[in-house]
Amino acid sequence: MNKKKINDIDMKNWKDYDDIITDSLWIIDKRDNSGNHLGDYHGNFIPQIPNQLIKRYTKENDWILDAFVGSGTTLIECRKLNRNAIGIDIDKNILEIAKERSTTELGTSKLEFINSNSAVVNLDEILQKNNIDKVQLIIYHPPYWDIIKFNNLEGNLANCTTLDEFINGFSKVIDNTTKYLECDRYLGIVIGDIYKNGEWIPLNSYVTQLMLAKNFLLKSIVVKNISETKAKQNNKSIWKYRSLLGGFYVFSHEYILIFQKTKKTNI
Ligand SMILES: C[S@@+](CC[C@H](N)C(=O)[O-])C[C@H]1O[C@@H](n2cnc3c(N)ncnc32)[C@H](O)[C@@H]1O
Repeated sequence: MNKKKINDIDMKNWKDYDDIITDSLWIIDKRDNSGNHLGDYHGNFIPQIPNQLIKRYTKENDWILDAFVGSGTTLIECRKLNRNAIGIDIDKNILEIAKERSTTELGTSKLEFINSNSAVVNLDEILQKNNIDKVQLIIYHPPYWDIIKFNNLEGNLANCTTLDEFINGFSKVIDNTTKYLECDRYLGIVIGDIYKNGEWIPLNSYVTQLMLAKNFLLKSIVVKNISETKAKQNNKSIWKYRSLLGGFYVFSHEYILIFQKTKKTNI
């Protein structure tokens, strides 16, 4: 079968790729702090997440969209790996930081920045300007509903007052951005569950159901450790106490949901 190649992995030498994770459990104990990665934005992800997705699902010079770009972790990785990218964030201040950090990273790939709500943004002009009509990978790292207060901006998913509002808002982002994803290509959603009023809210399950209802093909559910969370690390014993008292387990993992857009996808 002559499947179209979606990455630069040389399958004749597949055994040589020690850097590429193929298991669904990612235990990464040290964040990559190289280059312009500072890891100081509350709610950022470790660079190894976009790094793995980019190497696995794109080739050099492909285009990647990050619909919740924050401090630009994905775009810094795109620069390092010679991929072009578009980063969207509703918050213009953090977008400026993303721009500053990613465009000064070593590399020559093209980077575009859009200050907008990903549920309504129109990418036609940016795509036209770069002579492309689709992107080859989308990465989503939305707020985990309201656990971090990012800003007061209307449209920020962290400001949703109910779970339904959050899932519907995320659904709009998916509909509005995956139309720009090339068919048969992949998207990764990085999300964690949350704990509210004594109840575990499985955001990852709600999001998975949402994507399945749109007929995206579920390729993997990756579980990644989050043992490095600064807040938790400094308060380990108090979390153990709370856990024992409250009958719950302390979060030490998050999810990377990998889906493929196919001809059957309802977008
Ligand atoms: C979890 S953070 C992303 C962090 C990023 N991965 C990093 O490493 O810095 C989520 C981001 O989504 C942005 N955001 C929330 N709702 C949005 C929306 N509707 N459209 C675009 N950006 C949004 C927030 O401003 C925040 O910067």
